[in-house]
Amino acid sequence: MSEIKQSLTDFVVAHPKLKFMFFGGKGGVGKTVMAGVTAMQMAQQGRRTILASTNPVHSLSGLLDQNVYGQATPVKDVPNLWAYEIDTKETIERSKQDIKTKIRWFLKFAEISTQADAFVESATMNPAFEESAMFENMVDLMFKNEYDVYVFDTAPTANARRLLGMSKVYSMWVNKMVKSREEAQSLRDLFSFTKKKEADPLMEYLLSFRERISHARELLTDVEQTAFFFVTLPEALPIAVIKRFINWFHDFGIPVGGVVVNMVIQKDQLRPDSPEFVKNRVAMQDAYMEEIWRDFDNVRAVLPLFDNEVRGTEALKMMAQHAFPQVGTPAGG
Ligand SMILES: Nc1ncnc2c1ncn2[C@@H]1O[C@H](COP(=O)(O)OP(=O)(O)O)[C@@H](O)[C@H]1O
Ligand SMILES: [Mg+2]
Repeated sequence: MSEIKQSLTDFVVAHPKLKFMFFGGKGGVGKTVMAGVTAMQMAQQGRRTILASTNPVHSLSGLLDQNVYGQATPVKDVPNLWAYEIDTKETIERSKQDIKTKIRWFLKFAEISTQADAFVESATMNPAFEESAMFENMVDLMFKNEYDVYVFDTAPTANARRLLGMSKVYSMWVNKMVKSREEAQSLRDLFSFTKKKEADPLMEYLLSFRERISHARELLTDVEQTAFFFVTLPEALPIAVIKRFINWFHDFGIPVGGVVVNMVIQKDQLRPDSPEFVKNRVAMQDAYMEEIWRDFDNVRAVLPLFDNEVRGTEALKMMAQHAFPQVGTPAGG
């Protein structure tokens, strides 16, 4: 059936506690634009909203035509809206220093006399480390709890999934660490002559880290507070990407908010004398729209291809009217 059963507006109304919103999908489909449009909408409803990106490659400043790099910045002329491109380079540096300290603790604990630097290099010279730093940034912002709504412009597909999958792996890893640490500690207590209890910074760190990770998982899997939306075009590749994505997310127990179809050429633009090129594209889109209606039962909006790029707050407001229809009118209609 080719109709929207629950629009983005309906979804937001049905989820009054909704607080963390994410956008995923293939590159170039309009994730950043949709994150901006959604943040704009939530802010216009009077909720204190932050639009944040943790990507090393930022695009919010470009989207808003305003520098929002490095700190949460009030968006010009839009009450209740802040935007923030998080400085990942700085976090990565900080995490490296952090890890260095922890590796030193560990080496000291294990009574291994080696320079920590070689370990640090190998621990931080991989792409997962960068993602983990981005994840930390995101979680920091979420935990500070200074806003009513958080809209994240996430990294494309596989990265975002790994980001989330990592939280499970993290807590498993930390549980193991804590366990072996406890065993080592009790052995040490058994054989030590002094009865003085030594402070154990590594253990303290692991415990607080486990706490942090489990809290993050709680938030990210909470169906009342969290929703991941997937943006696609009526084309084969972007559809395939979000199908895969949605399956992964079901496996992780992460709430899927629904699907947004973007850049659909409006049929009322078509005339008998329209160029073949346009007619052909419309026919192609029609075929993929059929697939979309058949395979997704959670389409939240179908948005037109505009004759211009979507930039600046006025454009976002205009697009918000399409994406978030007034209650009672169908989306994208
Ligand atoms: N419905 C639309 N009509 C016209 N241009 C659009 C539409 N949605 C997005 N765009 C433009 O398409 C480009 C890609 O959008 P963007 O949000 O940056 O994609 P992503 O973040 O998924 O890579 C941008 O130039 C944006 O302005
Ligand atoms: Mg983007």
